[in-house]
Amino acid sequence: MQLPVRRATTDSSLIAGDRGYSAGSQARRLVLSFLCAVLISSTLSAHAANPSSTASQQGSRETGVIDPSLDARVESILRSMTLEEKVGQLVQYSAGQATGPGTGRTDYEDMIARGQIGSLFNVVDTPLVKQYQHIAVEKSRLHIPLLFGLDVIHGFRTEFPIPLGMASTWEPALVEKASHVAALEASAIGIRWTFSPMVDIARDARWGRMAESAGEDPYLGSAMAAAYVRGYQGPHLDAPDTMSACAKHFVGYGAVEAGRDYNTTEISEHTLREFYLPPFHAAVNAGAATLMSAFNSLNGVPATANPFTLTQVLRKEWGFKGLVVSDWNSVGELVPHGIAADDATAARKALLAGVDMDMVSSLYHDHLAQLVRSGAVPEARVDEGVRRVLRVKFALGLFEHPYVDEGRAQQAFFLPESLQLAQTIAERSLVLLKNAPADGKPLLPISKDVKKVAVIGPIADNPSDPEGTLFGSTAPKSGVLSFPAELARRLGENNVIRAKGVGVTKASNERIAEAVAVARGADLAILTLGESPDMSGEAASRSNLGLPGRQQQLLEAVVATGKPVVLILFSGRPLTVPWAVEHVPAILAAWLPGTAAGPALARTLFGESNPSGRLVVSWPRSVGQEPLYYNALNTGRPPDTVDLTQPPRDVPTRYVSRYIDEVNSPQFPFGYGASYTTYSYGQTQVNKSQLSAADLNQGLNGKGAASAVLIAEAEVSNTGSRAGEEIVQLYVRLQGTSTAQPRALERQQRVRGRTIQGDRLDQSGFRPRSGDRPGNRAIGSRGKSRRRRKKNISGPKARSHFNRLTARLKSCPSLFAAKSELIRSP
Ligand code: BGC
Repeated sequence: MQLPVRRATTDSSLIAGDRGYSAGSQARRLVLSFLCAVLISSTLSAHAANPSSTASQQGSRETGVIDPSLDARVESILRSMTLEEKVGQLVQYSAGQATGPGTGRTDYEDMIARGQIGSLFNVVDTPLVKQYQHIAVEKSRLHIPLLFGLDVIHGFRTEFPIPLGMASTWEPALVEKASHVAALEASAIGIRWTFSPMVDIARDARWGRMAESAGEDPYLGSAMAAAYVRGYQGPHLDAPDTMSACAKHFVGYGAVEAGRDYNTTEISEHTLREFYLPPFHAAVNAGAATLMSAFNSLNGVPATANPFTLTQVLRKEWGFKGLVVSDWNSVGELVPHGIAADDATAARKALLAGVDMDMVSSLYHDHLAQLVRSGAVPEARVDEGVRRVLRVKFALGLFEHPYVDEGRAQQAFFLPESLQLAQTIAERSLVLLKNAPADGKPLLPISKDVKKVAVIGPIADNPSDPEGTLFGSTAPKSGVLSFPAELARRLGENNVIRAKGVGVTKASNERIAEAVAVARGADLAILTLGESPDMSGEAASRSNLGLPGRQQQLLEAVVATGKPVVLILFSGRPLTVPWAVEHVPAILAAWLPGTAAGPALARTLFGESNPSGRLVVSWPRSVGQEPLYYNALNTGRPPDTVDLTQPPRDVPTRYVSRYIDEVNSPQFPFGYGASYTTYSYGQTQVNKSQLSAADLNQGLNGKGAASAVLIAEAEVSNTGSRAGEEIVQLYVRLQGTSTAQPRALERQQRVRGRTIQGDRLDQSGFRPRSGDRPGNRAIGSRGKSRRRRKKNISGPKARSHFNRLTARLKSCPSLFAAKSELIRSP
């Protein structure tokens, strides 16, 4: 297989300097080349999941999880194990903080000594980690080390922005570095398994776990998934500073109905393969050692007992050799789901469907041995699960080095380069939503005339504040200044006045009048509003997406003072703030920026950093628009030319796909983000007007891929007076296909003051879309604005290519077939 070739023509003059600002508004040009290698993958949609498949597959070998040389050792241990000891390797408990119903067990030490536990998680205290490990290695009969896991989601000690924020950088390379730092720090206390990345596609902002996602796009989600895996696992998993990654939640969890956590999902096989599976496939191809099955039921079959996804797709189609762990108690939850009449059946169904390890429910511990003895479960299936667990433990080097060196933590935590990285990522994650003029020029960056600022709002820098602490960071880091402290450093202590105004959600202790007075006494009011960290993430679905509590009232009261207002929104999801969009001149979406929130925000507001984050989720105007995502199908009645801001008045304005009380479009679209400078895009040029089916099919067969390369070029100019970084986005839409296709992101490139040559554009593959008829491609590039350039590539020559896809689609094993098998099984 050949990766897309990249050809970049550049004018070496810069669009932006990496450091500082260059003066002058003279347009500087950079010619971008986008190369789309078309359909090189051999499996429908597989390549979409796999932006860097060759590199990833190498990564998979290097990480050693499927290293065949381990097998002799694995088999040797397996042969000496009793059935109970085998089952023990498939059992995992949380020995720390609970995030769901538990078994009430606390007798971990006895169980470990008897070889009844394979993994523990939520143990975050090094001496305790060591204590449990000593019992496993010294007291259990076979001396098999434990594998310690934890949800290390966006850093361990050094906290990076939440994943939604990290994805807003559109820079997988940064995410890879952040994940490496997380591994370095967490492994220093003995954590060698992180339950991350969460690669669920998130299209509905009501779902709190959108915060943990990379957003709504499968291409970007795949690139991020692979980056997390590479960062956590490194080139060699047995290095002491790595963790095995766990891509979760397999699969479809992001589509929970009405955005309500743990809810049901209905996803057609087409949509599953086109949108929800690709990021998992990317993680697998990047060498992810483990996957986690999801809570949700998928088309009537809970994901934790779903043989179609867990065995057919994951094992047979993708060849995944790693370990599958259930989600918290999700084996036990097969009973309330209704597909298991009792606990033993739940254990049997989960194991047979493909879940190797039981997280927390204890049903494998309670029932598996008996199920094997009764013949309901073949021992060979248990053996297979044990092999997968042992392979991961061997690959991590746990048999050789089971104990963590307690001194390592000091050398791993909060390294200066880690803190610098956290700051860089936090800065690039910030999305400037609006920056309107106040007194003739944009409000941001903060003018030198501003001497005194009021910082108003319930999102506080005080760690003891039970509400929105520290802008999303749970542990303060001495030496890293908070946002108000950074402001005070620049403006002087007396020139930064704080007022909370209202609580995040509570109406009590309301002091709006005091906040208004504080605003009146300042040159500029900065409002820090939004959600506290516990309002997003797991079990944090919302049915309203506005500012919680009385924050809207606070905002309106401060705006009414007539003082210029900058609104910083902290949240794990987009918030519906139409009033603010209309009345507040400057709005910054900060997500939850982590440890470096203070410097990152201050540097951005003062213009030392130019915001370059772009939305990875469509930002709704109102909650009724959800689920809202850019890559939705067009419908047969797109309201293209209808003015949706006006109510329908006649047949043409009414009988189109629209709301009668809201415009269809998001408040801010996917890919959007403003800047302190401006960019202009030239006409997108493509190097051929037709893609020949012969070339495409040769590419499919791994031959002559270069001739199936489409080059799209756009000239991008920085037309403003400041340096900046633009994220250029390439969208492709197939037209004339028999299955409707949405506009889809195919490439992204962050452009800064350097040439494209040598950058990573070549690691991204063209995302094939299913279709079975000759088609057109509408190619559009988009930068920070909604401007698009389109060019159609059409032609009957594409016929055989799409015919091939049809054939493959038809031969896809049907979900319904898998379901009927399940129904037949007792
Ligand atoms: C979550 C998982 C998490 C697990 C362990 C579950 O409730 O859904 O994402 O990894 O708990 O903490």
